[in-house]
Amino acid sequence: MAEVVIVRSMAAAGGVAADAIEQLVRRNPRAVLGLATGSTPLSTWTALAARNLDLAQVRGFALDEYVGLPAGHPQSYRSVITREVVEPLGLNPELVRVPADSGPLETAGDDYESAITDAGGVDLQILGIGRTGHIGFNEPGSSFASLTRIKTLTQQTRLDNTRFFDSPEQVPMHCITQGLGTILRARHLVLLAFGAAKARALAGAVEGPLTASLPGSAIQLHPRVTVIVDEAAGSDLVHADYYRYAWNNRLEWERI
Ligand code: PGA
Repeated sequence: MAEVVIVRSMAAAGGVAADAIEQLVRRNPRAVLGLATGSTPLSTWTALAARNLDLAQVRGFALDEYVGLPAGHPQSYRSVITREVVEPLGLNPELVRVPADSGPLETAGDDYESAITDAGGVDLQILGIGRTGHIGFNEPGSSFASLTRIKTLTQQTRLDNTRFFDSPEQVPMHCITQGLGTILRARHLVLLAFGAAKARALAGAVEGPLTASLPGSAIQLHPRVTVIVDEAAGSDLVHADYYRYAWNNRLEWERI
């Protein structure tokens, strides 16, 4: 079962996620992080940046990327990762990969899988969840065995991401994303969610039936998952009281 941590604020959630990353990097300065974009991970990056850790040897793999944006577009996930993660955290940009950042698009999925494998796999994967229940850009119907590949975004996701563009039409229709199978190979999944708009998808992912119709439910197949939510995003969780009780009574030696 996922460890579910219900906190009061995004900042508190970012602190808990940053604890997990800090513990990992102190054990292994060359750790491999799975990086997410969007609003959700921002408090994690902020909390981590404030700790002034030496992250220069950390390697990173972004979850996903739009297909069809011109190189250097400010909303390409390469640009977003550079701006919001690489620069504030002091990562080495040469050690951070984004899907389809080199070579032809046709083989970009396989190339990315090979690069992750060659790096020894992802140690800790940061995840958000979309209102459609997607993790990465694995929209409903994605196979639990899927690997990095091109996908078509749902209209809901394009609409949700319109806030980063000038108009809905400018949001790309296609993306390349790590698959659910790729994500499940990471050694530790840390999924964050904030706000009431995420409550249904989050509860489905943590407690609902395992179904490709709610791709986030794939986390139930993983042996080590930490879910960090605010009260609003956790408001549909049936077992919220138990999660609070378990977290408040965790044993001293338990790592998140
Ligand atoms: P958000 O997106 O962090 O911008 O809410 C999360 C997601 O769609 O995975």
